[in-house]
Amino acid sequence: MTRDQNVDQQDAKSEFNCINRRQFLLYGAGAVSTLALGSIFGSSSSFAGQAQFAQYPRKRIVGLSELKTDQPIEFLYPNDDPTYSKCLIVNIGERAGGGVGPAQNIVAFSGICTHMGGLLNKVYKPEHKAIGPCPNHLTTFDITRHGMVIAGHAVESLPQIVLEVEGNSIYATAVAGLIFGGPTNPGMMFR
Ligand code: FES
Repeated sequence: MTRDQNVDQQDAKSEFNCINRRQFLLYGAGAVSTLALGSIFGSSSSFAGQAQFAQYPRKRIVGLSELKTDQPIEFLYPNDDPTYSKCLIVNIGERAGGGVGPAQNIVAFSGICTHMGGLLNKVYKPEHKAIGPCPNHLTTFDITRHGMVIAGHAVESLPQIVLEVEGNSIYATAVAGLIFGGPTNPGMMFR
Protein backbone atom coordinates (compact mmCIF):
# COMPACT_ATOMS: atom_id res chain seq x y z
CA MET A 1 0.00 0.00 0.00
CA THR A 2 1.36 3.44 -0.93
CA ARG A 3 1.56 6.30 1.56
CA ASP A 4 -1.30 8.14 -0.18
CA GLN A 5 -3.53 5.09 -0.05
CA ASN A 6 -2.75 4.71 3.62
CA VAL A 7 -3.65 8.36 4.34
CA ASP A 8 -6.92 8.00 2.39
CA GLN A 9 -7.80 4.92 4.37
CA GLN A 10 -7.04 6.63 7.69
CA ASP A 11 -9.13 9.65 6.73
CA ALA A 12 -12.07 7.50 5.70
CA LYS A 13 -11.81 5.51 8.91
CA SER A 14 -11.75 8.53 11.20
CA GLU A 15 -14.69 10.16 9.42
CA PHE A 16 -16.70 6.97 9.70
CA ASN A 17 -15.90 6.63 13.40
CA CYS A 18 -16.73 10.28 14.08
CA ILE A 19 -20.12 10.09 12.41
CA ASN A 20 -20.99 6.89 14.21
CA ARG A 21 -20.07 8.35 17.58
CA ARG A 22 -22.17 11.47 16.98
CA GLN A 23 -25.07 9.46 15.67
CA PHE A 24 -24.90 7.22 18.70
CA LEU A 25 -24.71 10.04 21.23
CA LEU A 26 -27.44 12.16 19.74
CA TYR A 27 -29.83 9.86 17.99
CA GLY A 28 -28.98 6.24 18.32
CA ALA A 29 -29.99 4.47 15.15
CA GLY A 30 -31.62 7.48 13.45
CA ALA A 31 -32.32 7.48 9.75
CA VAL A 32 -29.24 9.50 8.90
CA SER A 33 -27.23 8.59 5.86
CA THR A 34 -23.93 9.78 4.52
CA LEU A 35 -23.36 9.60 0.81
CA ALA A 36 -21.07 11.11 -1.73
CA LEU A 37 -23.00 14.18 -2.77
CA GLY A 38 -22.67 13.31 -6.40
CA SER A 39 -24.64 10.17 -5.84
CA ILE A 40 -27.65 11.86 -4.25
CA PHE A 41 -27.68 15.10 -6.19
CA GLY A 42 -26.49 13.91 -9.57
CA SER A 43 -23.00 13.35 -10.83
CA SER A 44 -22.70 16.79 -12.45
CA SER A 45 -23.94 18.64 -9.38
CA SER A 46 -21.84 21.51 -8.06
CA PHE A 47 -21.68 19.72 -4.72
CA ALA A 48 -18.28 18.41 -3.74
CA GLY A 49 -17.44 16.02 -0.95
CA GLN A 50 -19.90 14.40 1.39
CA ALA A 51 -23.33 15.31 2.73
CA GLN A 52 -25.37 14.05 5.61
CA PHE A 53 -29.07 13.91 5.11
CA ALA A 54 -32.16 12.49 6.73
CA GLN A 55 -34.02 10.01 4.60
CA TYR A 56 -37.81 10.04 4.63
CA PRO A 57 -40.45 8.18 2.63
CA ARG A 58 -40.30 9.00 -1.07
CA LYS A 59 -43.10 11.32 -2.09
CA ARG A 60 -44.24 12.50 -5.51
CA ILE A 61 -44.22 16.31 -5.60
CA VAL A 62 -45.13 17.46 -9.08
CA GLY A 63 -44.79 16.68 -12.78
CA LEU A 64 -41.76 18.08 -14.62
CA SER A 65 -43.99 19.72 -17.20
CA GLU A 66 -46.08 21.45 -14.51
CA LEU A 67 -43.17 23.60 -13.32
CA LYS A 68 -42.84 26.99 -14.97
CA THR A 69 -39.63 28.95 -14.65
CA ASP A 70 -39.49 31.09 -11.50
CA GLN A 71 -42.95 30.05 -10.37
CA PRO A 72 -42.57 28.12 -7.09
CA ILE A 73 -45.03 25.45 -6.07
CA GLU A 74 -45.61 24.75 -2.39
CA PHE A 75 -45.74 21.26 -0.96
CA LEU A 76 -45.42 19.45 2.36
CA TYR A 77 -42.41 17.29 3.21
CA PRO A 78 -41.20 15.19 5.02
CA ASN A 79 -44.76 14.66 6.30
CA ASP A 80 -48.11 16.41 6.08
CA ASP A 81 -47.71 18.58 9.18
CA PRO A 82 -47.87 22.20 7.97
CA THR A 83 -46.16 23.50 11.11
CA TYR A 84 -42.76 22.38 9.94
CA SER A 85 -43.12 20.58 6.60
CA LYS A 86 -43.82 23.59 4.38
CA CYS A 87 -41.52 23.47 1.36
CA LEU A 88 -41.27 24.95 -2.08
CA ILE A 89 -40.01 23.60 -5.37
CA VAL A 90 -38.98 25.88 -8.20
CA ASN A 91 -37.37 25.80 -11.61
CA ILE A 92 -34.95 28.69 -11.24
CA GLY A 93 -34.04 28.81 -14.93
CA GLU A 94 -30.35 28.16 -14.37
CA ARG A 95 -28.25 25.32 -13.11
CA ALA A 96 -28.24 25.01 -9.33
CA GLY A 97 -26.45 22.95 -6.71
CA GLY A 98 -28.51 19.84 -6.18
CA GLY A 99 -30.71 20.73 -9.13
CA VAL A 100 -32.59 18.01 -11.00
CA GLY A 101 -34.21 17.85 -14.40
CA PRO A 102 -32.55 18.01 -17.82
CA ALA A 103 -30.94 21.38 -17.04
CA GLN A 104 -30.39 20.68 -13.32
CA ASN A 105 -32.37 23.80 -12.57
CA ILE A 106 -35.12 22.43 -10.34
CA VAL A 107 -34.53 22.70 -6.61
CA ALA A 108 -36.63 22.39 -3.48
CA PHE A 109 -36.15 23.78 0.00
CA SER A 110 -37.81 23.93 3.36
CA GLY A 111 -40.02 27.01 3.62
CA ILE A 112 -39.19 27.47 7.30
CA CYS A 113 -36.39 29.90 8.18
CA THR A 114 -33.51 28.31 10.09
CA HIS A 115 -33.19 31.32 12.37
CA MET A 116 -36.49 31.30 14.27
CA GLY A 117 -38.95 29.62 11.97
CA GLY A 118 -40.18 32.51 9.82
CA LEU A 119 -42.29 31.47 6.84
CA LEU A 120 -40.40 31.71 3.56
CA ASN A 121 -42.84 30.09 1.16
CA LYS A 122 -43.92 33.42 -0.39
CA VAL A 123 -40.59 35.22 -0.61
CA TYR A 124 -38.80 33.64 -3.57
CA LYS A 125 -36.86 36.33 -5.45
CA PRO A 126 -36.39 35.26 -9.10
CA GLU A 127 -34.06 38.16 -9.91
CA HIS A 128 -31.58 36.93 -7.31
CA LYS A 129 -32.40 33.20 -7.34
CA ALA A 130 -32.82 33.56 -3.60
CA ILE A 131 -35.39 32.86 -0.92
CA GLY A 132 -35.93 35.82 1.38
CA PRO A 133 -35.71 38.20 2.98
CA CYS A 134 -37.43 36.40 5.81
CA PRO A 135 -40.37 38.49 7.05
CA ASN A 136 -39.11 38.20 10.64
CA HIS A 137 -35.45 39.24 10.62
CA LEU A 138 -34.56 39.45 6.94
CA THR A 139 -32.35 36.41 6.39
CA THR A 140 -31.96 35.59 2.71
CA PHE A 141 -30.78 32.25 1.31
CA ASP A 142 -29.00 31.48 -1.98
CA ILE A 143 -30.81 28.59 -3.62
CA THR A 144 -28.25 28.18 -6.38
CA ARG A 145 -25.81 27.12 -3.63
CA HIS A 146 -27.73 24.69 -1.46
CA GLY A 147 -29.52 27.35 0.57
CA MET A 148 -26.45 29.12 1.92
CA VAL A 149 -27.14 32.25 3.96
CA ILE A 150 -26.55 35.42 1.94
CA ALA A 151 -27.41 37.86 4.69
CA GLY A 152 -29.36 38.04 7.93
CA HIS A 153 -29.46 36.43 11.35
CA ALA A 154 -29.62 32.77 10.41
CA VAL A 155 -26.38 30.84 10.59
CA GLU A 156 -27.66 27.58 9.13
CA SER A 157 -28.35 26.99 5.45
CA LEU A 158 -31.93 26.44 4.42
CA PRO A 159 -32.53 22.67 4.36
CA GLN A 160 -32.52 21.38 0.81
CA ILE A 161 -34.98 18.72 -0.20
CA VAL A 162 -33.29 15.89 -2.06
CA LEU A 163 -35.12 15.35 -5.33
CA GLU A 164 -35.25 12.56 -7.85
CA VAL A 165 -36.79 12.49 -11.32
CA GLU A 166 -38.51 9.45 -12.69
CA GLY A 167 -40.27 9.82 -16.01
CA ASN A 168 -42.24 13.06 -15.82
CA SER A 169 -42.49 13.00 -12.04
CA ILE A 170 -40.34 14.67 -9.40
CA TYR A 171 -40.04 12.94 -6.05
CA ALA A 172 -38.71 14.11 -2.69
CA THR A 173 -36.60 11.47 -0.97
CA ALA A 174 -34.66 13.12 1.86
CA VAL A 175 -33.75 16.36 3.61
CA ALA A 176 -30.23 17.75 3.80
CA GLY A 177 -30.16 19.84 6.97
CA LEU A 178 -32.16 20.77 10.02
CA ILE A 179 -35.78 21.79 9.63
CA PHE A 180 -36.54 24.44 12.22
CA GLY A 181 -38.91 23.04 14.85
CA GLY A 182 -38.99 19.55 13.42
CA PRO A 183 -39.79 17.02 16.17
CA THR A 184 -37.84 14.27 14.44
CA ASN A 185 -34.84 15.76 12.79
CA PRO A 186 -32.03 13.27 12.44
CA GLY A 187 -30.14 15.52 10.06
CA MET A 188 -29.60 18.23 12.65
CA MET A 189 -26.28 17.19 14.12
CA PHE A 190 -24.41 17.43 10.86
CA ARG A 191 -25.19 21.00 9.95
S1 FES B 1 -36.93 33.96 11.62
FE1 FES B 1 -36.05 34.28 9.67
S2 FES B 1 -34.49 35.70 10.01
FE2 FES B 1 -35.31 35.35 11.97
